Amino acid sequence: MRPPADPHLSEESIRARLTTRVIGATLYVHDEVDSTNRLAADLAQAGAADGTVVVAESQTRGRGRLGRHWVSPSGMNLYVSIILTRMQPPPIITWIPLLAAVAVARTIHNAIGLPTRIKWPNDVLAYREGQARKIAGILAETTGGSPGGVRAVAVGIGINVNMPIEAFPEDLRPIATSLLIETGHTLDRVQFLASLLLEMEQLYEHLLKHGSARVMEPYCELSDTLGKHIQIELAGGGRAEGRAEAFAGDGALCLRTGNGTLLEIRAGDVVHLR
Ligand code: BTN
Repeated sequence: MRPPADPHLSEESIRARLTTRVIGATLYVHDEVDSTNRLAADLAQAGAADGTVVVAESQTRGRGRLGRHWVSPSGMNLYVSIILTRMQPPPIITWIPLLAAVAVARTIHNAIGLPTRIKWPNDVLAYREGQARKIAGILAETTGGSPGGVRAVAVGIGINVNMPIEAFPEDLRPIATSLLIETGHTLDRVQFLASLLLEMEQLYEHLLKHGSARVMEPYCELSDTLGKHIQIELAGGGRAEGRAEAFAGDGALCLRTGNGTLLEIRAGDVVHLR
């Protein structure tokens, strides 16, 4: 009998494919959790090592950005959280979620040749017939150490891998997609995860050694937001509109508004207008 195209995620199968040194050296694999990010935050609080990874086959309360829910059915996607603890110098923290988006885009491209784009800050989009659909999302959450300080970041990555269109809630069907929908092929999630963790490790090492410039460059190349006229719902309330002109040294979005003011935006939800 032939092995299934996409075997179950297990610690043993993932370890057998891992080629990283740090990321995944400590690895937790679960069938079902509320949220891998919640679990990772608890582990980080308890002093988990840099590079600890939490993976689950399903999540009952998957967390999305800006308080949203992340749809996390069993046996078809990747839900993974990576604990990173080397936080110096400070812009490293703000670059980690952007770096994760670059790692996801590169892994998808290397695995199946599908080009993707990144909507600021870290939505990974696939284009079909001129229409962008979200294929992966990233939620980075910090954990406190010393009062006021950050001890660790839990980078949560959700990728729609082998999810058929019927498995999406109806309201998401026009705006979300999966690798299966885009290519018609089932992907081996274990191999894909091993490749993703290697990309993450390489980019993280670059960031630590050379600073954000090395990540800024590929991020800008993959950016779907840069140069576009956008509207942004600000995380603290309110709305801004203008041209996405650049990214600041910490990854903030520099928005040139109609009256010529340059705003630096650190959290929000972007709509691309043109
Ligand atoms: C977004 O809204 O775009 C971010 C989605 C992040 C989802 C991932 S799935 C693994 C990790 N655990 C969570 O609860 N959320 C993140």
